[in-house]
Amino acid sequence: MAAEAAEDAAGLTPAEVEERLIDTVIASFSGTPDDRLRQLMTAVVTHLHGLIRDVRLTEDEWNRAIGFLTDVGHITDDRRQEFILLSDVLGASMQTINVSNQPYRDATEATVFGPFFVDDAPLIPAGGDIAGGGVGEPCWVEGVVRDTDGAPVPGARIEVWEADEDGLYDVQHDDDRVYGRAHLFSDDDGSFRFWGLTPTPYPIPDDGPVGRLLAATGRSPMRASHLHFMVTAPGLRTLVTHIFVSGDELLTSDSVFGVKDSLIKDFAQQPAGTPTPDGRDLGDLPWSRTRFDIVLAPAGV
Ligand code: BEZ
Ligand code: FE
Repeated sequence: MAAEAAEDAAGLTPAEVEERLIDTVIASFSGTPDDRLRQLMTAVVTHLHGLIRDVRLTEDEWNRAIGFLTDVGHITDDRRQEFILLSDVLGASMQTINVSNQPYRDATEATVFGPFFVDDAPLIPAGGDIAGGGVGEPCWVEGVVRDTDGAPVPGARIEVWEADEDGLYDVQHDDDRVYGRAHLFSDDDGSFRFWGLTPTPYPIPDDGPVGRLLAATGRSPMRASHLHFMVTAPGLRTLVTHIFVSGDELLTSDSVFGVKDSLIKDFAQQPAGTPTPDGRDLGDLPWSRTRFDIVLAPAGV
């Protein structure tokens, strides 16, 4: 029997052929005028070829991967962003946030943005209600925005958004309804307060290719219960984060790896009839309350 060919026609071993291709592809980007783009493309080629070689990828597997990405593209439109979802379930969104938001003194930690933020959410006054007709248990949220020197930050813009008790955001409906989102501003002493809904667990959209990936790998689409915040103020680093509900059993298995211990808050249950902080009459509804003090890092750190 003929010995297996260990070299190609040019006398190179398979490993040498593979390594020469990587060098050639990297060299093809060497004329990129933008230094950062050249650095990024070099890294993409190095890691992508590293993966292909590590797992000895078959042509069939690569074609299936391309088919999967094609499906991700096809389902994506103005309302459905499957690429963000893919980045989220791979932990890539969270890792980019880790890399981009280095810890700074006691600044509040960031977490994933998610696909459901909407610009121009309604403005509410201090103590207003973000529910906007969304159904769920009322929740009183209060806190103070400060900088890392402990000084209150007045006039910080606080965007908040959340799903209703059925686990759906307003934008997941086929009409233009708006609920569960608003913006407000911190007072002169940095304080803020509003009514929202007690967060409940919900699945990320799993009726597309990312859902199929989760099913094929035995993973759950469920997100730990949370309330989204984005806080901006001049001269300070924009904070995109959530707060999570202490005791939620999904805290250790959040489908997008967004949970950080510092963001887990007590949502204290208040039986029906408990007086509310602002005198609001909730009739026979139970409600909850939580506190989230926010610390913003300086911009550019
Ligand atoms: C969300 O929190 O709304 C979310 C985050 C990542 C993927 C899907 C949803
Ligand atoms: Fe969310």
